[in-house]
Amino acid sequence: MSAVNTIEICQPDDWHLHVRDGEVLPDLIAHTAKQFARAIIMPNLKPPVTTAELALAYKQRILAARPAGNLFEPLMVLYLTDNTTAEQVKNAKDAGVVGFKLYPAGATTNSDAGVTDLAKCASALQAMEACGMPLLVHGEVTHADVDVFDREAVFIDQVLEPLRKKHAGLKIVFEHITTKQAAQYVRDADTQRYGAIGATITPQHMLYNRNAIFTGGVRPHYYCLPILKREEHRLALVDVAASGNSRFFLGTDSAPHAKGTKENACGCAGCYTAWHAMPLYAEVFDAANALDRLEGFASHFGADFYGLSRNTAKLVLKREQQIIPEEFPMGSSTVVPLRAGEMLSWTIVG
Ligand code: NCD
Ligand code: ZN
Repeated sequence: MSAVNTIEICQPDDWHLHVRDGEVLPDLIAHTAKQFARAIIMPNLKPPVTTAELALAYKQRILAARPAGNLFEPLMVLYLTDNTTAEQVKNAKDAGVVGFKLYPAGATTNSDAGVTDLAKCASALQAMEACGMPLLVHGEVTHADVDVFDREAVFIDQVLEPLRKKHAGLKIVFEHITTKQAAQYVRDADTQRYGAIGATITPQHMLYNRNAIFTGGVRPHYYCLPILKREEHRLALVDVAASGNSRFFLGTDSAPHAKGTKENACGCAGCYTAWHAMPLYAEVFDAANALDRLEGFASHFGADFYGLSRNTAKLVLKREQQIIPEEFPMGSSTVVPLRAGEMLSWTIVG
């Protein structure tokens, strides 16, 4: 922890966010729009957002849900399926879509329509290489015989490395990385011979290890996918983020679920961090004595990776404790945030 008590940074963006759809949108967007200028909106709705037309309509609903006067900009990505065509990729590019998301079938919330075999997507992936459209990957294999804690490391060997070799021009974002294997893979990847690669990192994976899911009992609000890992993995993520390496940037993966669907015999995966994302990240960088590296991670590297301009507005945080509310309204239900009812060390000033 340093003696710095106020941080002023270029306004950040969230490169991985779930805001769902319908009546919950205004409640959720307000939290993100208070901190972030832009966010990549994940397409795992039911049914998934698979075409440019669906994405543009969804974008309009998000824009309409913003607080009055707020200029938050949603960035849309499409859900890759076995049936995505090269034509759909070109249409998406023309419509301003910023990427395609690979969910291995069955990997996580609403991923039933996900890809069963990447070979089926070869022409779509070639089209993405040709037009510089990034592929965002949920990096887990889903075979029942792979241990849930090993799914990301196995994905690197079985899927990611062959994919980069086969589609050498493909630009890839390894989403919400959770292991030292993923951190090292992205850090050391050869981007001369193969496409550019980046990775997003969530606040929960830098703040907690897997003990958090089981402290004194089962704690569903610490359950997300990919699942929290061992301490050595948490430390590896903090290390690469705090090193100032521009391949690593902010993506909260804030994933709201109604309270009753998390506190349940078969609870949904997802941590809700939209309300306090920047204070949580500040805590991580502060603890690593790297507050001066927060701006690159939160506000520069993602925009640079996606070829978008950096924001010009500022965000100010100050070292001031506050209690995280127990829950927030979410349409006709409520959502419980990560670390509900406990202390936060940083506060957003404006
Ligand atoms: C996400 C969700 O709920 O949509 N859940 C999660 O645990 N992260 C899906 C995802 O990003 O995998
Ligand atoms: Zn996600």
